[in-house]
Amino acid sequence: MTYLVTGATGSVGRHVVDHLVRAGQRVRALTRDPGRARLPEQVEVVQGDLSRAETLVPALQGVEGVHLIDVGGSGYAPLPNGKEIVQLIAEAGVRRVTLLSGWSQGTLEPAVTASDLSWTYVQPTEFMANALVWAESVRTRAVIEEPFGATKTAMVHEADIGAVIATVLAEDGHAGHSYGLTGPELLDMPAKAATLSKAIGKEIAFVELTVDETRERYRAEGVPEEMIEFQIEVFGNVPEDAYQITPTVEQITGRPPRTFAQWAAEHAAVFSPDRGV
Ligand SMILES: NC(=O)c1ccc[n+]([C@@H]2O[C@H](COP(=O)([O-])OP(=O)(O)OC[C@H]3O[C@@H](n4cnc5c(N)ncnc54)[C@H](OP(=O)(O)O)[C@@H]3O)[C@@H](O)[C@H]2O)c1
Repeated sequence: MTYLVTGATGSVGRHVVDHLVRAGQRVRALTRDPGRARLPEQVEVVQGDLSRAETLVPALQGVEGVHLIDVGGSGYAPLPNGKEIVQLIAEAGVRRVTLLSGWSQGTLEPAVTASDLSWTYVQPTEFMANALVWAESVRTRAVIEEPFGATKTAMVHEADIGAVIATVLAEDGHAGHSYGLTGPELLDMPAKAATLSKAIGKEIAFVELTVDETRERYRAEGVPEEMIEFQIEVFGNVPEDAYQITPTVEQITGRPPRTFAQWAAEHAAVFSPDRGV
């Protein structure tokens, strides 16, 4: 069996690749720039761009299953060509598809779910890796600055998302399912800062930004305006049931989801002032 993994160089895709390789599967990894991919040597790295669907045709040859991401531009722009991608996948005779998606209203999810492919939709909540945006302020000023400090989220570890996707790709019984993935605990911002503080052995302060300060910061960073409003909407207006913990990671992988303390310990060096980056 050969599996094509898109987003293979991304924070989740690398784990999908690792899990499939460890399970003895053949993996083909799609990237726009093979020279920068840095993937395990057993992996066949192929060049392709999801926003130009025709570039996928050679990558799809002889493939049993495909893992898809739904973004493909700057600022996580949703792919506009979902129908075309799905048509090429079906024409290539691929049986199984997983789709990793966020909250974006893209064209890929409706095209995949309307198709005759054996699809599984994987929708994680916030990735633990999103905490990497705090690395610089933690290293240089020992502070995390965010709005909506009291909002609790059940961040999920990228390795758990990758394990779910690799399992679903290689195992029967998941067709037509949508899996919402969370980590094992609900944490507010002070709790996240405290967890990181413990991992690096240094106190990190949490400073709550106002919504206006947040807009200003994102604009200064060049974040697109619609993405700014999206972030403010998602984290400022969390519906009651949006961050309920789900048992799905353990049900599918057979092991409990990793905690944020585990993630923080694995990534402590990135947040450490000694790193001097
Ligand atoms: N961050 C979150 O909290 C969150 C939550 C839920 C869902 N998601 C979903 O996670 C996915 C992103 O995964 P990630 O965070 O692991 O990615 P990431 O670390 O941000 O890396 C982006 C990946 O997308 C690939 N990519 C971007 N544009 C591409 C294009 N035009 N053609 C082919 N590949 C392209 C990049 O590949 P190359 O640069 O090598 O070409 C890279 O592997 C999206 O589907 C998003 O909806 C994210």
